[in-house]
Amino acid sequence: MSEGEVFPVPAAWAKRAKMNAQAYEAAVARVETDPDGYWTDVAGRLDWIAPFTQVKDTSFHKHPFHIRWYADGVLNVSVNCLDRHLDTRGDQVAIIWESDEGTPWDNLTYRQLHAETCRMANVLKARGVQKGDRVTIYLPMIPQAAVAMLACARIGAVHSVIFGGFSPDSIAGRIQDCDSRIVITADEGLRGGKTVPLKRNVDEALEQCPGVTDVIVVRRTRADVPMKAGRDAFYSDLKQGVADTCEPEPMNAEDPLFILYTSGSTGKPKGVLHTTGGYLVWAAHTHELVFDYKPGEVFWCTADVGWVTGHSYVVYGPLANAATTVMFEGVPNYPTNSRFWEVIDKHKVNTFYTAPTAIRALMRDGDEPVLKTSRKSLRLLGTVGEPINPEAWLWYHRVVGDGRCPIVDTYWQTETGACLASPLPGATALKPGSCAKPLPGIKFELVDAEGQVLHGATSGNLVITDSWPGQMRSVYGDHQRFFDTYFSTYAGKYFTGDGCRRDEDGYYWITGRVDDVINVSGHRLGTAEIESALVSNENVAEAAVVGFPHDIKGQGVYCFVTLKADVVPTDILQAELKGWVRREIGPFAAPDVVQFAPGLPKTRSGKIMRRILRKIAENDLSNLGDISTLADPSVVDDLVKNRIGS
Ligand code: WTA
Repeated sequence: MSEGEVFPVPAAWAKRAKMNAQAYEAAVARVETDPDGYWTDVAGRLDWIAPFTQVKDTSFHKHPFHIRWYADGVLNVSVNCLDRHLDTRGDQVAIIWESDEGTPWDNLTYRQLHAETCRMANVLKARGVQKGDRVTIYLPMIPQAAVAMLACARIGAVHSVIFGGFSPDSIAGRIQDCDSRIVITADEGLRGGKTVPLKRNVDEALEQCPGVTDVIVVRRTRADVPMKAGRDAFYSDLKQGVADTCEPEPMNAEDPLFILYTSGSTGKPKGVLHTTGGYLVWAAHTHELVFDYKPGEVFWCTADVGWVTGHSYVVYGPLANAATTVMFEGVPNYPTNSRFWEVIDKHKVNTFYTAPTAIRALMRDGDEPVLKTSRKSLRLLGTVGEPINPEAWLWYHRVVGDGRCPIVDTYWQTETGACLASPLPGATALKPGSCAKPLPGIKFELVDAEGQVLHGATSGNLVITDSWPGQMRSVYGDHQRFFDTYFSTYAGKYFTGDGCRRDEDGYYWITGRVDDVINVSGHRLGTAEIESALVSNENVAEAAVVGFPHDIKGQGVYCFVTLKADVVPTDILQAELKGWVRREIGPFAAPDVVQFAPGLPKTRSGKIMRRILRKIAENDLSNLGDISTLADPSVVDDLVKNRIGS
């Protein structure tokens, strides 16, 4: 197999798929000629309490600037994910829970999930939570995470889920930003046999959040955790005797559904705000289209619910489509590196969706851990979160999928709600490493740095010229920042922050971020956040952080650090600073490399030249470019000489 190989659509797929090649072309054409009709049909998959009369009402320009979809429609997300399935699929399993230890305690049918959701909703109400209130969820991958999200949706509260890998400081920042007064957490999490001190992290965070009045603690490991009287209560106690029905709150399509914090190129993480109607339409529609989801199939997305992929493809998309969704608490290599494949066999998983970083890590262990499992139930594979190198793609296809399962390489972002571009298994020939083409209704354009539109086979910055229902609506509490971040670089267009190549067949190849965001193991990190964590250490005067290519993680974190005048650079301090970032942001942000630098390359106006630092971190020393404009070109010699890993 060569890297340039193209994998045609298998005949069986062209036949079975909801969308084949002709249907794809027809849909793309219809969005042009009959946009309202197309988008109305797409939204028709949901149950609306009051139908919408307005479909699309959007403008990416400064005056006026607004994004509204189905704006006068009324619906409830939890009803769409639960109640409407009860008559026909009440006893079907909604969530298969695969615990870290591998002993499921808790597969939930739709009927059970509905009852649990209503109970949690009633508990929240009893704690005074009302429509529009923000509820922080900091839970491990246990069914109660989905229950908590759906319970918020049921009563119109806005959830803000925080990934369990985040530190107390990161939790505090997020709670303060959205002014949330209630937190749902667990005693501890369990991943790969190790415990995660969730409640302890919350306690520490809340020292900075006096506004939080209620902490609901789900018991996971049953560890003995301190409980603050008047503030903390165990969920198992609160739900005693609570009704398992709860009237759903009728929500306007544009009422907020959730906030999810994500890293940008500057400043603190942004609260990406998604609303009720358009988000659910897009999550459900793309789940069916991209994965060709058919009723009765078992769908497994390995993402944590703390990230957008978990929101859209563990919880909302699959449940809106009455799917059986797998929720996995553990890690790919515990207790053995066959775990993923064993879980596929155990639960007869049909579609498996994971991140390239996991595939690369498992590929390193060879074929044997995969081949000793059957994987006969698999019919489709997917990847998300970062570019996949063709070598990993080919291994995934040949070994994991036995050469018979198409791979959908889905490109999207927290901001986009759900998939933007992906091959469709019944419509698109596959090219390893390419996310193929935009879904019908998504309008990609490549532009150069000046905003000039580029045509044909070329590379440029990826922008989107028109709205789609799942697009974020605002940065929570800072609408101006929403406009400035995404719509001001190229007037009237949404800028993704990604670089991209388009080939002669019109296939798109995402090349990675062109801003100061890095992608470490599929986790998005702002270099500015890591820098600000570093300079908060008393020994550090200045820091500049860049990404560098990493075999497993995609990108690693490379930090250049200037110490304060009287501080001696030592190996111990190097290790200490790595630990510092771990504690300030979270373990997944830990730097791979800390290089002490007496000075950083700056222009005469004081701006750090990151381009040069990136080249040094990448070990691309012959391409440093023009350094004569630096205030002090000699700093570069020192940086090169002391490069870590040379
Ligand atoms: C990157 C994750 C290449 C991209 C859903 C994007 C990808 C960022 C792909 C968003 C893909 C995501 N191929 N790159 N299939 N999917 N990315 O917000 O750089 O965590 O801008 O959303 O991940 O990361 P986020």
